[in-house]
Amino acid sequence: MHVWQISSFGVDSLEFTERPDPEPGPGQVVVRVHAISWNFRDLMMVKGLYNPKLRLPRIPCSDGAGEVVAVGPGVTLWRRGDRVAGIFMQNWLDGPPTPEKVRGALGGDIDGMLAEYVVLNETGVVAVPDHMSYQEAATLPCAAVTAWNALAAADLKPGATVLIQGTGGVSVFALQFARLRGAKVLGISGSHDKLHRAYELGLDAGLNYNEVPEWDRWVMDQTGEGADLIIEVGGVGTLPRSLRSLRMGGTIAQVGVLTGANSGEQIPMPAILHKQARIRGIYVGSRQDFLDMNRAITLTQLRPVGEDFPWSQARQVLSRLEEASHFGKLVMTVA
Ligand SMILES: NC(=O)c1ccc[n+]([C@@H]2O[C@H](COP(=O)([O-])OP(=O)(O)OC[C@H]3O[C@@H](n4cnc5c(N)ncnc54)[C@H](OP(=O)(O)O)[C@@H]3O)[C@@H](O)[C@H]2O)c1
Repeated sequence: MHVWQISSFGVDSLEFTERPDPEPGPGQVVVRVHAISWNFRDLMMVKGLYNPKLRLPRIPCSDGAGEVVAVGPGVTLWRRGDRVAGIFMQNWLDGPPTPEKVRGALGGDIDGMLAEYVVLNETGVVAVPDHMSYQEAATLPCAAVTAWNALAAADLKPGATVLIQGTGGVSVFALQFARLRGAKVLGISGSHDKLHRAYELGLDAGLNYNEVPEWDRWVMDQTGEGADLIIEVGGVGTLPRSLRSLRMGGTIAQVGVLTGANSGEQIPMPAILHKQARIRGIYVGSRQDFLDMNRAITLTQLRPVGEDFPWSQARQVLSRLEEASHFGKLVMTVA
């Protein structure tokens, strides 16, 4: 089979090569991957910034969907032809996380989905919503489950205000899920065009953070008392303004680190105390979270948003991710 693998770090070093077709062992399934989607994490992984000690070669990408083409002895959950997606952390099936459960992340601890075939434990996949194409289903495992859990971090009442940052994979799913929960959604983006696309998905008000860097003031103007829930994808560089934008007793779902480790910003510690802020770290979620999310997605016939590319263009798509010119998800059809 053909795969893309990280043999040495760097987008231009991503290598298209061949490996033996996988065979299913006891309790395992082989999935013919039809589509994958990229996450910011995959870009960091390929560049060697996520884990400089990553064992190479490694097949990247946590997210993919396809069809079961072979089952090993003892498999009871799946049959040939079933449409499935891999779960991000292969060992986190249910309940709260533990150090053991969060090991086994696809495209990091173990080989990922950027291959024509993958072999996974039968519990390492979930059924994909019937109304979705493989391309749509491939967007779900990381960004959507993360956004789903970020929304669950606060006890949101209808009409509560959620702030999203940017219009990447996690944030656009967060916008869609926040609307499902009856929340008002504010968004900041570096692009007017992307804000217009977000309005079409239900964004209530948006601000270009390149034009108005003091977006915390804008959030306070929009809300009066601050946002109830902030989906924090920026990290150190945005957390100070997020704290200033937060309602007293509000929640920050700490998801991302887009601004890097050394943005030079000081975290306003008193704001955490005085506002009695809840800061909840999110690390994707469990298989059960994925199943719960899929039920809601099926009920509401929600459709992910993104662009699809041929899988020959892996390096070009990674460059798109790096320059942040995308809206929602970047997908590749594996063929
Ligand atoms: N904890 C977890 O479980 C988890 C799971 C998934 C992702 N993450 C992390 O969450 C972050 C987002 O991931 P993703 O895959 O959704 O990324 P993505 O698709 O690459 O989206 C990034 C978008 O964020 C916006 N952005 C960039 N810098 C920003 C800034 N300083 N302030 C506000 N917005 C900014 C840009 O959108 P605009 O052009 O619209 O501004 C950019 O397109 C990454 O750090 C990723 O590692 C964490």
